[in-house]
Order: sequence, then structure tokens, then C-alpha cells
Amino acid sequence: MNVRIGLLSISDRASKGEYEDRGTPALVDYLAQKIISPYEIVAKLIADEQSLISSTLIEMTDKNGCSLILTTGGTGPAPRDVTPEATEDVCERILPGFGEVMRRVSYDIVPTAILSRQIAGTRGSCLIINLPGKPTAIAECLDAVMGAIPDCVDLIGGGHIDLHPSVRTYRPPQS
Ligand code: MTE
Repeated sequence: MNVRIGLLSISDRASKGEYEDRGTPALVDYLAQKIISPYEIVAKLIADEQSLISSTLIEMTDKNGCSLILTTGGTGPAPRDVTPEATEDVCERILPGFGEVMRRVSYDIVPTAILSRQIAGTRGSCLIINLPGKPTAIAECLDAVMGAIPDCVDLIGGGHIDLHPSVRTYRPPQS
């Protein structure tokens, strides 16, 4: 069975149609360039409501069978930014390294990277990673952590992901 990847775009205004959702197309393009094994995408666009974000993440993992979910938006300090809280609510374990590394590399690009509270964690056999809402932030953040994603998904029983040879991939040697 193909690995399923959930793309969850979180924005009050895009979900109301006030502007176009640019996060999902940016994620789709990014994955098409980096993942060479077969996968299916489950994409959703929702408002910045904590309970809605949590219930959508649960649906994407428990019902849709996603092994990886990438969220975009709602990680900042504004009152309506609640993506990290909703992610924490549904994860059994937090993987602090993802947020640390993504903020670290982003800070060299834009000093306001310190405003992102993005986290990552696991729910069952699904890895959930928060990304900021700005479309350019998607590649900036994922470039730093992409190489660790296949091994993580494999270790939690989420299936097999092969990356393009141009991506520095961290996989332990097979014994
Ligand atoms: N990280 C990267 N790589 N590139 C960016 O442009 N923007 C920052 C930060 N992290 C940014 C970034 C800004 S301006 C904000 S406010 C926070 O992410 C939170 O963004 P969000 O609320 O859209 O998730």
C-alpha cells in the first residue's frame, strides 16, 4: 500500500476564500521534487480553530491512515495561532529536534523565525510536522529536516519513503 501523506493548511482567511491557499500547492510541489517512492496525498484546508485542527489531525491519522502530516500556518504568536497546541493535544510523543532545527536554519534567512512555535510529534504510526504559513517557509524548513523523515516514519511503523538522491538522507546502515 502506498504511503499516505496529509497536507493540512490552516488559515482563517484562506478557508473563508478571502485569499487563495498557496500552502497546499507549495507542499505538493515540494514533495513531488523530493519523494521518489509512490505516495498518495490527503489535503485539507481549515480555519485556525484548535478543536477543529485536533479533530482533523485525528481523522487524517486514525481514519485516512496518513503516515506523515505536514501542517502549514498558525504557528506564530498571534491569538488565533493555535496549531502547535492542537498538534500537542493529539501527539503521544513530541520530537523537539524538528522544531529546533527548523527554527535554527530559518533564523539565518529571516530573524522573525524565532516567532514560529512550530513543533513535531508522533501519533501512532504518523509523524506530524508543523510548518509556518508563508509558502517560501515550506522549502526553507523542510530542506533542513527532510533527510530524517524516512527513518522516523520507518521507525514508527508508517511505511517506506524513498527520497531523491539529491536529498541528504539519514538512515542507519542495514545490518
Ligand atoms: N521560517 C521560515 N523558514 N521562513 C519564514 O519566512 N516566517 C516567520 C516564522 N518562520 C518564516 C519562518 C514569521 S514572520 C512568523 S510570524 C512565524 O514563522 C509564524 O508564521 P505562521 O503563524 O504563519 O505559522
